[in-house]
Parts: sequence; structure tokens; C-alpha cells
Amino acid sequence: MREPASRILGTGHYLPPIVRTNADLERMVDTSDSWIVERTGIRERRIAPETIATSDMAAAAAKSALEQAEIPASALDLILVATVTPDMPMPATAVFVQQKIGAGNCPAMDLSAACAGFVFGLSIADSFIRSGAMRHVLVVGVELLSRVVDWSDRTTCVLFGDGAGAAVLGPAGGATARGRSRGILSTRMSTDGTLAGSLAIPGGGSARPMSQALLESKQHKIQMKGQDVFKVAVKNLQSSSQAALDDLGMTGADLDWICPHQANIRIIDLAVSKLGVPRDKMLTNIERVGNTSSASIPILLDESVRSGKVHPGDTVLMCALGAGISWGSAVVTI
Ligand code: ACO
Repeated sequence: MREPASRILGTGHYLPPIVRTNADLERMVDTSDSWIVERTGIRERRIAPETIATSDMAAAAAKSALEQAEIPASALDLILVATVTPDMPMPATAVFVQQKIGAGNCPAMDLSAACAGFVFGLSIADSFIRSGAMRHVLVVGVELLSRVVDWSDRTTCVLFGDGAGAAVLGPAGGATARGRSRGILSTRMSTDGTLAGSLAIPGGGSARPMSQALLESKQHKIQMKGQDVFKVAVKNLQSSSQAALDDLGMTGADLDWICPHQANIRIIDLAVSKLGVPRDKMLTNIERVGNTSSASIPILLDESVRSGKVHPGDTVLMCALGAGISWGSAVVTI
């Protein structure tokens, strides 16, 4: 096993204040609390008020992560913001995050890998630190999905929520009480572009520029073939997680926790059971938060660290899949 180059120095998250329950959705579309809970595991999700933009949530999560890491924003060498709901098409949301947290002139860029964005971000940050080019990298996963959800489409609107999570990465170092090296131990990233049509916001870009007709046909909103995504999610989350463990000569039994992307409780249960990991090792908050895409893993990780459930020295498998279809896994000793 190669020695880790980077480790997570601190995490943070932000959830907006508005709670939208399944009962609220029952008043908006033809659905029921029992259908949503049984098919997805979700009871409520958070929604950002109109005054909040994606970068506001990202900056709040980032400040909290920097505080925990005891790193000033001026020490950041790179800001990576994983999002598919940017403040605007140009410039990158990361630019506004840089301003709002008071970082210097470090490069700041967005990463578009949907639900897999945070895991992709971890992998990229780890590579930069391993190369010696960077020392401290901020990775944020943030989504304001309520602005791109069609609130009249019951097949998608019940799934998604808003929020942000962040991690500050720095050079690895420091063994834990169990003698494990703290750090990013292995990462895997994959994309199958032939499945791009399974989950998309098809309109509003260069292929289908914004127009009145596009707005009326709601092509600027999320469109999803739910069952196609479900099947590929279970298969690929399991295979990439297995590959990340194989890279280390580890098995599910070596893990303290699994921190999976909170897509759907049935997807997570199936993928985790196929890895042979007991259910009580699986972290989850989907019931309260819904699917927050790239923000999902860092929100869950930060909640779990701050509540004392996940301890320094615990080894955690993170895995995510989403639009692209893109997916990835990371094995990390916290
Ligand atoms: N309330 C009530 N009924 C509904 C709702 C709803 N909100 N949504 C769909 N239905 C109906 C359908 O119309 C269908 O009715 P019919 O049989 O009369 O045609 C019936 O329920 C069953 O629909 P299915 O699509 O077969 O339901 P399924 O069990 O597949 O669950 C779901 C749908 C929850 C979307 C599931 O496919 C899923 O979770 N897919 C993964 C998608 C996902 O998580 N995407 C997020 C981004 S990617 C990621 O994070 C992995």
C-alpha cells in the first residue's frame, strides 16, 4: 500500500433553513408520504430561500471547514467547487467562494461531475498535493437543486434538496492510535458518456440555447430516467468501491464506515450489502436531507465527525454516482 500524500484537515457543511416535508409535497403533486418514504427513504429536504445563491452556501461550508482545519483562507493553494447548479454560467462559482471566504489569488474553478463531484474533487486535490504543486486545497460540493427541479414532476421533485459540504485537504501526516496513516488511501473515478441521456438538464447550454419554447417545454429542468439510473447506480457503486478496496488489499471488513452518496436508501442498501459490509457501518442522513448531489457526501461526513460518530483514525469508504453517468469511490482514514 502506498503512503497517503494528503489528508482531510477539516470539514464543514451548510443546510439552508427552509424544511420541505413530504406532507408539503403532497399538497404540490400527486404523491404520498408513504410512497416517498418506501421508495426513497426521504421524509424531508432543505430548500434555500430566494436570497441565497450557490456560492453563499458553499462559502458557509468552506468557512466552517477552514475553522476546523485551523487553516486561514489565505493559505489555500486551490479552490475546487463541485456543482451542477452554479451561480451563473460564467465565471465559475469558485470565484465567488474565493471572494466570500477572503482567500488570496489562488486558482478557483468549478468541477461538473454531478453527484460524483465531491469524490472527483478529492481525487484531483489529492493528485495536486501528491505532485508537490499544492499544499492546501479546498474541495466544496454544493447544489441548489430546488432551482432546477420541475416542482410539477412527481418523479423527480420528491428526491432533491439544497446544501453544501466542504473539506480542506493538506499534506498527510500523523499516525492514529491504531497505527494507521491518516489520509486519502485510494480513489477511483469513471464516466460512461453513452448514458448521458439518463439524467440531464438538457436545455440552456450551447446545444439548446435558452428560448421561450425551451422554457415552456421545461428543458431547463432536471429530466431523469429513474429506473435506468437506479440499476447502473447499484452496479457501479459496488464495483468502483470494490476496486478502491482491492487497490489497498482491503475488504469491507477493514472499514469503520461507509459514507455513500445519499441518492435513495434502496440504492445504498443494495450497494452496501453487495460489498459485504454490515448495515450498521453505513452512515445516512437521506431521511432529513434528501439527495443533495455533490454536497451529499461532505454534508454526511461532517455531520458524522461533529456528532462524534466518526473518530479521527476511522477508515471511511465514500462512493457516489450521478449524471454523466459519472461515479467514483475513495477510501480515506480520517
Ligand atoms: N409519488 C407517487 N407515485 C409516483 C411518484 C411519486 N413521487 N413518482 C413516480 N410514481 C409512480 C410512477 O408514475 C409509477 O406509476 P405507474 O406504475 O402507474 O406507471 C410508479 O410510481 C412506479 O414508478 P417507478 O419509476 O417504477 O418507481 P421506482 O420504484 O423506480 O422509484 C425512483 C422511482 C425513486 C425515482 C427510483 O427509480 C430511483 O430512485 N432512481 C434513482 C434515481 C436517482 O436517485 N437519481 C438521483 C440522481 S442520480 C443519483 O443520485 C444516483
